[in-house]
Amino acid sequence: MSAHPNTAPAELLDPIERASRDEITALQIQRLKTTLNHVYQNVSHYRKAFDAKGVHPDDLKEIKDLAKFPFTCKQDLRDNYPFGMFAVPQARIARIHASSGTTGKPTVVGYTAGDIDRWAGLVARSIRAAGGRAGDIVHIGYGYGLFTGGLGAHYGAERLGCTVIPVSGGQTEKQVQLIRDFKPRIIMVTPSYMQVIIEEFVRQGVEPRESSLEIGIFGAEPWTEAMRREIETSADIDAVDIYGLSEVMGPGVASECIETKDGPVVWEDHFYPEVIDPETGESLPDGEEGELVFTSLTKEAFPVIRYRTRDLTRLLPPTARAFRRIGKIVGRSDDMLIIRGVNLFPTQIEELVLQHGKLSPLYQLLVSRAGKLDEVEVLTELQPAEAAMPSSAVEDISRSLQHRIKVMVGISTKVTVLPPNSIERTQTGKSRRVIDRRPKG
Ligand code: DLL
Repeated sequence: MSAHPNTAPAELLDPIERASRDEITALQIQRLKTTLNHVYQNVSHYRKAFDAKGVHPDDLKEIKDLAKFPFTCKQDLRDNYPFGMFAVPQARIARIHASSGTTGKPTVVGYTAGDIDRWAGLVARSIRAAGGRAGDIVHIGYGYGLFTGGLGAHYGAERLGCTVIPVSGGQTEKQVQLIRDFKPRIIMVTPSYMQVIIEEFVRQGVEPRESSLEIGIFGAEPWTEAMRREIETSADIDAVDIYGLSEVMGPGVASECIETKDGPVVWEDHFYPEVIDPETGESLPDGEEGELVFTSLTKEAFPVIRYRTRDLTRLLPPTARAFRRIGKIVGRSDDMLIIRGVNLFPTQIEELVLQHGKLSPLYQLLVSRAGKLDEVEVLTELQPAEAAMPSSAVEDISRSLQHRIKVMVGISTKVTVLPPNSIERTQTGKSRRVIDRRPKG
């Protein structure tokens, strides 16, 4: 098999990308020790959690000792909202990002200048693995703002020496016009939005296969091999997978190589991955499916120890790089949904429904995909006492809840307010909260 023409030549790689397992392990142990001491000294949550489990940073002698340390989960971040998990004084925080919390308050993360520098380096490494090089024009369609996608991709593309077009999300017609006029070689955007962009090309009477684009770096939501084939064929590009999450850094925790397209390579010199049984918390051997857990190895402002991502996947052996890979994310061990790239916990909607005195606490989210984009309909019902409410008042409730969801959660929904007792009750008296009708696979 001849190598893909865009395979990064060995001399372009960071030496650690080609190191031996022993070298990688030695670096990981050294960095783990530093990180464990850093959090123990500077973050009261970690000191308390380690003490409660009877472990001390000095107990880490080899990698497998990490399993003695406690997990960190989203609730811990919530309990320490907003800055309680930061390991450096606020004055050293150069930037804040945030992602969805399970209810109103977002999950807040912080970066020192050094963290941003390393993040840019890892996204640059990711773009290079995807076949990007200095001088390429990169169109960035991930959202800029508190979401890590836009700025994370931006700094990485700049670091690689690319010409960056910071378009952000939305305005599809304009995205297509800019692609036609500026002729980027690379696009970074969610895979489902790429499909919308391709459709817009067609709508404008332009053949997407003729565009300047050669490479797409897609992530922030799950996507399948079938979607990869569809995008690659209809746009005549190479499509690679980039993975990440705000709590661990943002985009570029792991990213795929163009020559193999066999799952994102975890940048193991900066993040130590584990896969655990989500029920028992027990570590699973490589190759077995479970919940992905990360310990950061170089972060200063917001280090994480055994952070439970809730993403379900497998750890796979190294191929194009010396590091292990992850398989496709096959699901979540919690109820988080990703709607058009935006993370959504049903509890975020629940909180807003509960705040409305005239609605019953029962609700249902109907998730579907008409065309290429996800759609959410929120079904609610009136309290029994409101049965006689005039339809104009019912419409007002629907409009105001839809508006509050847009403002507080950041997604457009359709809100339907039904008469009392309309929502399906199961035998246990609990309604099924999410009905996901999106095609699988
Ligand atoms: O989505 C960071 C990102 C931005 C990654 C741009 C890639 C590209 P969060 O908003 O915190 O961060 O959402 C993180 O999104 O736990 C996964 O469930 C999901 N996710 C991210 N990348 C992928 C991917 C960004 N390539 C959550 N495949 C994660 C499947 C992904 N799911």
